[in-house]
Amino acid sequence: MAVSSLQVNIAGVKLNNPLILASGTAGFGEEISRFYPLENVGAIACKGTTLEPRDGNPPPRIAETPSGIINSVGLENPGADRFINDYLPWLNMQKAVVIANIAGSTQEDYCALAEKFNDTAVDMVEMNISCPNVKSGGLAFGTSCQSVAQITRTVRSHCSKPLIVKLSPNVADIAEIAIAAESEGADALTLINTITAMKIDIQTRRPILRNNIGGLSGPAIFPIAVRMVWQTAAKVKIPVIGAGGISSWQDAVEIMLAGAAAFQIGTANFTDIYTPREVLKGLDEYLEANRLKSVNEIVGGVRAW
Ligand code: SIN
Repeated sequence: MAVSSLQVNIAGVKLNNPLILASGTAGFGEEISRFYPLENVGAIACKGTTLEPRDGNPPPRIAETPSGIINSVGLENPGADRFINDYLPWLNMQKAVVIANIAGSTQEDYCALAEKFNDTAVDMVEMNISCPNVKSGGLAFGTSCQSVAQITRTVRSHCSKPLIVKLSPNVADIAEIAIAAESEGADALTLINTITAMKIDIQTRRPILRNNIGGLSGPAIFPIAVRMVWQTAAKVKIPVIGAGGISSWQDAVEIMLAGAAAFQIGTANFTDIYTPREVLKGLDEYLEANRLKSVNEIVGGVRAW
């Protein structure tokens, strides 16, 4: 019987375990709930939601690579009102901890979205300023300290929920971007989103993706996520949520040792829907084997040279 605790606290919100389903890989939870109860995971970060419904980019939108996928979905989603009215009540009935991932083309969009979620049963808001697949907004807000500081400050003043800022790896110095977000009121950070990438069909000479480029996720980017979490967690006081290619319990332990207080599982949900179950089982056994009472004891525990 397990005696170690997997419970973590992110920005005042208690999660039964540190595993969060990454935005864009679990929709709004319905499909995944056919395989296991959503209350088994720490939280679900729902698909990036905009003010109005979006169809996303034209297909093809996914390209497979040897160790991951490149997507250019373009934030297809049903819009904030539909999320709040149709999906959220159901998610609450599942006893899931719900993170609304918000995305917009303008700062005003993000503020209006934050306000919409203030009076809902969403537990946290994850501000996506790192989507590489949209023409306006997205990544454009997330690549300079100045723009990250400005949007965080502005959205913070409209948001009464714990505010997570999801950062892009497509920057020179992620730690300084993280500090900019923290100094303007972010309660937690998620890193990393996808890395801009491209794949070309050598017969047709055309890019596989209709958008030409997209964002690479999956095991290929895991060591980069570990490096960025390690560099960032040492420099901020707020919790860092690790994301990027985590596919096994060993990866989960590794990213927590690098400094992540929790972690997200994304692309691995597509290769094996039961990845979260296996990761939580392995994590629990690791704690037991190392006689640790709480998963929090491994956070930042790397013995760097
Ligand atoms: C997308 O919908 O294009 C992916 C979302 C993201 O990368 O943030």
